[in-house]
Amino acid sequence: MHSAVLLFASALSVATFALDNGVMRTPPMGWLAWERFRCDIDCEHDPKNCISENLFIDMADRLSEDGWRELGYVYVNIDDCWSSMERDKEGRLQPDPKRFPGGIHKLSRYLHDRGLKLGIYGDMGTHTCGGYPGTTLDKIKIDAQTFADWEVDMFKFDGCYSNATEQEQGYPLMSKALNATGRPIGYSCSWPAYQGGLPPKVNYTQLGEICNLWRNYGDIQDSWDSVLNIIDWFFENQDVLIPAAGPGRWNDPDMLVIGDFGLSMDQSRSQMALWAIMAAPLFMSNDLRTISSGARSILQNKMIISINQDPMGIQGRLIVKEKSGIQVFVRPLSNNASGLVFFSRRTDMPYRYKTSLSKLNYTTGSYRIFDVFTDKTMTLKDSTDFVVSVNPTGVVMWHVSAPAKQNLRHFYNGGRLQGSAYDNDENTIPRVFL
Ligand SMILES: *[C@@H]1O[C@H](CO)[C@@H](O)[C@H](O)[C@H]1NC(C)=O
Ligand SMILES: *[C@@H]1O[C@H](CO)[C@@H](O)[C@H](O)[C@H]1NC(C)=O
Ligand SMILES: *[C@@H]1O[C@H](CO)[C@@H](O)[C@H](O)[C@H]1NC(C)=O
Ligand SMILES: *[C@@H]1O[C@H](CO)[C@@H](O)[C@H](O)[C@H]1NC(C)=O
Ligand SMILES: *[C@@H]1O[C@H](CO)[C@@H](O)[C@H](O)[C@H]1NC(C)=O
Repeated sequence: MHSAVLLFASALSVATFALDNGVMRTPPMGWLAWERFRCDIDCEHDPKNCISENLFIDMADRLSEDGWRELGYVYVNIDDCWSSMERDKEGRLQPDPKRFPGGIHKLSRYLHDRGLKLGIYGDMGTHTCGGYPGTTLDKIKIDAQTFADWEVDMFKFDGCYSNATEQEQGYPLMSKALNATGRPIGYSCSWPAYQGGLPPKVNYTQLGEICNLWRNYGDIQDSWDSVLNIIDWFFENQDVLIPAAGPGRWNDPDMLVIGDFGLSMDQSRSQMALWAIMAAPLFMSNDLRTISSGARSILQNKMIISINQDPMGIQGRLIVKEKSGIQVFVRPLSNNASGLVFFSRRTDMPYRYKTSLSKLNYTTGSYRIFDVFTDKTMTLKDSTDFVVSVNPTGVVMWHVSAPAKQNLRHFYNGGRLQGSAYDNDENTIPRVFL
C-alpha cells in the first residue's frame, strides 16, 4: 500500500521530458476503430460496418453533431486493414482503393473542416498484425512523409512481425522522421506492449522522450474480464507507470469499450472512472450511430472528463485494498483537488463501505465532495466517518476539493492530500452517501 505522500513525491521529484511536438498535453480523446470494427473488410455484405471511408465519415458526423467534439473527443482514428496490399509505384503506402475511393487526404480534410483530427495506423515490421504492408526500417521516412502529406494528426505504430532489435531502432527512428516532416503528429507507440511493459526491457524515460502515448499491455476486448485484467495490471505496476506519465506522455491502457456489448452499466462506470484516475487516453471504440443513452451519458460525463484532462497530468494510484474486495484510488488534481474512486470487486450485492478522508490520508480540514455520477454535493470533514454504497463491479466516484470558503487555514502536512481546515463539531454518526 502506498501513501498519498509517495504520490506527490514521485510526481515532483522526477525530472522528465516529454516529446517536444507540442501535442497531447492532456490525454488525447476520440474514437478508434479497432475493438468494435476490427478487420471487417466485407463491404459487400456489411457496408455499414466495414473498414471504409464511410465508417470514418459516419463517426466524424456523430462526433461533431452529437456533442462529443465539444467535450474533447476530436480524434477519429483508423486502425489496421485500411491499406492496399501493395505500395504504389513510388513505394508509398496507399489506401484500399475500393474502400477508400476518396483517399486519406480527402478524409483528413473532411475531419479538419469539422474541427476533428485524423489518426492512422502502421506497423513496425514486415506486415501489420492483419497482414497488410508493414513499415520496415528502410520505409520509415517515406511512410512518415506520406502521413504528413495527408495531413494526418496522429499515428499509431504497432509492432507485429518485428523483433526487439528492430523495434529498438524503429520506434525512435519513426519519432525523428515524424518530427522531420514539420507536422506535429501525435505518436502512439505499441513498443512496450511487445516487450512485456516493464523494465529492464522497457525504458519509460526513453518512451516519454520519443512517444506521446504508448500501449503498455495487451489489447482490450469487449468483456469485463478483459477490463478487470487491464485494471489489475496497471495498478499492480503503478510504481513503474505513474512516474512515466505526464503532459505529452501517457500510459495507454487501451480503448473504452463502453457502449458495446460486454459491460453492464456499473462496469461501464468503472471503466470510465478508472481510466480518468489513470490519466488514460480516452479512445472510444463503439458504434456512435446506435449507442444507448446510458452509455452516452457515462462517456459524456463532464466532471469525469475534467478529472481525466487535469492539466497537471499526474496519474493516480491505488491506495487501499480491503479484504472485503473494496479498493480505493486517488488522483491528485490542480487546485489541491483530487479524484477519489471506491471500486467493488464483489459479486454479491451493494457493499456499504465505511471510512473517512483522514483514513485515506487527506489532511485535517473540510472538503467539498461532488459525486460525479449522482451530481450530489456535500461538505465533509476529514475526521468524519462516512459510508458509500458500492455496487458489485461498480464504483462510487468523487471529485474532492477545498470548500469555497474564505479565511480558511491551508494545511500542508508532509505531502498529504490537502484541503482547508476549520473548526467544526465532530460528527459522531457516519454520514451515508447513497
Ligand atoms: C497513509 O500514510 C501512512 C504513512 O505514510 C501510510 O503508512 C498509509 O499506508 C497511508 N494510507 C493510505 C490509505 O494511503
Ligand atoms: C521537432 O523537434 C524539435 C526539437 O525537439 C522541436 O522544437 C520541434 O517543435 C519539433 N517539431 C515537430 C513538428 O514535432
Ligand atoms: C532481428 O531481425 C533482423 C532482421 O530480420 C535480423 O537480422 C536479426 O538477427 C534479428 N535479431 C534477433 C535478435 O532475432
Ligand atoms: C533510458 O533512456 C534514457 C533516455 O534515453 C537514458 O538516459 C537511460 O540511460 C536509459 N536507461 C537505461 C537503463 O537504459
Ligand atoms: C494548495 O495547498 C497549498 C498548501 O496548503 C497552498 O499553499 C496553496 O495555496 C493551495 N492552492 C490552492 C490553489 O488552493
